[in-house]
Amino acid sequence: MRRFHTLSALVLLVTLFLIFYSTLHLEVTYSRRAAPEDHLKHVSLQAHDRKTPSSKQESFTTPHPNVHNVSVSDGLRQTIPQNGAYWNRLLRSSLRNLDKGDNPFGHDSDWSGCRETNLELLQTNVHDFTSYFALFQDFLQGMNCRSPPVLLNQPNKCFSKGKGDNRTFLLIAIKSSPGNFERRQAVRETWGREGVYQSGLRVRTVFLVGSSPLEDPDLSPLLSFEARYFEDILQWDFHESFLNLTLKVNTFLQWALKYCPHASFVFSGDDDVFVNTPALISYLHSLEPSKASRLYVGHVISTANPLRDPKSKYYIPLSFYEGPYPAYAGGGGFLISGALLQPFHSVSRIIPFFPIDDVYAGMCLKAMGVSPEANAGFQTFDIKEEDRENLCVHKDLILIHQRSPQQVKKLWRGIHSPLLTC
Ligand SMILES: *[C@@H]1O[C@H](CO)[C@@H](O)[C@H](O)[C@H]1NC(C)=O
Ligand SMILES: *[C@@H]1O[C@H](CO)[C@@H](O)[C@H](O)[C@H]1NC(C)=O
Repeated sequence: MRRFHTLSALVLLVTLFLIFYSTLHLEVTYSRRAAPEDHLKHVSLQAHDRKTPSSKQESFTTPHPNVHNVSVSDGLRQTIPQNGAYWNRLLRSSLRNLDKGDNPFGHDSDWSGCRETNLELLQTNVHDFTSYFALFQDFLQGMNCRSPPVLLNQPNKCFSKGKGDNRTFLLIAIKSSPGNFERRQAVRETWGREGVYQSGLRVRTVFLVGSSPLEDPDLSPLLSFEARYFEDILQWDFHESFLNLTLKVNTFLQWALKYCPHASFVFSGDDDVFVNTPALISYLHSLEPSKASRLYVGHVISTANPLRDPKSKYYIPLSFYEGPYPAYAGGGGFLISGALLQPFHSVSRIIPFFPIDDVYAGMCLKAMGVSPEANAGFQTFDIKEEDRENLCVHKDLILIHQRSPQQVKKLWRGIHSPLLTC
């Protein structure tokens, strides 16, 4: 009987202990979720500790913008909800540093030492990190990597030889990838042709290219040849991937500020679009100066939310970002004033990288207080099926996505034909 009592007392004790322990454990887990800031700080501290001597390779790191000149609009602060999703927390912590006047630029690390290799930290900050796709995990690890080494540069792109005029009215920047030779050539022969257009306005073109993954055939000798021959390829040493497009556009921004700082306008777009360059230039030329200096125009997607279908190319996990997207111009092709490049770059140092490049641009511009302006001439989702062969419809548009190199050539010839009567 006594034994029985001792046993039940023991069982009772153990049960009590287990209950107590599980509450404790829950509390520990809870406080982890509720106070993620400390962990985030820990992350950036770690990143600083790991700084390695800078690599010899050139990169386009621009001088630090003065922190005090950078501000983030209330519009953006109100659009992006405060919640437990990782990106939302990163933004909040970055804004808090900015408001305190601290250097908010946690991501100044070298290219060689910037990747977060401490997976445990990421798992602490993103509770279901291990359920993310490999590519998405990869994106998170590289979120602070912003200055890839330069492989091919065109430092003289925006300077004319001799006594030529150095002004650039329109800089066309086309996102391409190493293997897309045919697309680039179609663009060069048509809408991306460099030169002086109506009213003496100069257009210059660059293609933005990353590097091929190791398992792909090595196209670098061909690409170097192409770069020497056409002098329009910019290549950086990061892998081509959809999730690296934000990095690509950001690196281009750094390039443009350094090598083409006086461009009046920049067109950013894909290599599989058709652009009616004369229509585009007339439009830009007709703008009032006040509008021309704060232009962000394209096909506006104004009420988008993250897609939660894991099969989608644009999939964003709920634990990564929660909230609507600010209105943005579709990345197939949009225009921005050259005067906005510097503030865009400064504010991009406060807004953490987002895996979708055009959404990211929309966030940065919103932070600058600039809203995208819709223009019906930009058709990034293509036009009605029955109009796709109609030259007169194309003559009135500015951009259409998506067209093959052959279609691009045919359309270009067609809209320029003297026989065309609309
Ligand atoms: C354009 O820039 C080049 C290189 O910096 C310079 O040599 C040339 O004089 C400039 N031309 C004009 C018209 O300013
Ligand atoms: C982006 O580029 C870096 C550098 O090459 C690479 O390590 C990383 O895997 C790429 N990211 C994605 C998501 O492909």
